[in-house]
Amino acid sequence: MRRILIAAALLAFAPACSEEENPDTATILALTGNADDGQSVYEAKCASCHKADGTGDASLNYPSLVEHVPHEEEAEMVTLILDGEEAMPAFRSQLSDQEVADVLAYILREWG
Ligand code: HEC
Repeated sequence: MRRILIAAALLAFAPACSEEENPDTATILALTGNADDGQSVYEAKCASCHKADGTGDASLNYPSLVEHVPHEEEAEMVTLILDGEEAMPAFRSQLSDQEVADVLAYILREWG
């Protein structure tokens, strides 16, 4: 119970500080991502827009990760996954830090 309360408090606090410094991005970059685990996260949370093969959907403005991942900074991608941007949803409340590290490892292995 106590852990649930702490988690709830952290979630409530996170949006207020995330805009400025994204302390969670550094935490996640310090983790070792597991690309195999990240594949499951990707298929569950990301493939609906970016497609299983990473090519996205140009007609809906869902970018191709095949084209973009090689040009993106890892920190920017982590911040984007956490906080979202435009039509890209925020995953901060849906994924653990380890799951974000895992999905980053997966997209870098496949398309980085
Ligand atoms: C509802 C559709 C949707 C889902 C689900 C989604 N994205 Fe996105 N994603 C987008 C859109 C739209 C953009 C472009 C954001 C912008 O305009 O800045 C984007 C951008 C990105 C980019 C940057 C690509 C670029 O253009 O430089 C990355 C990396 C990315 N998404 C990864 C992910 C990952 C990883 C997941 C799953 C955890 C995910 N996305 C889930 C829609 C989605």
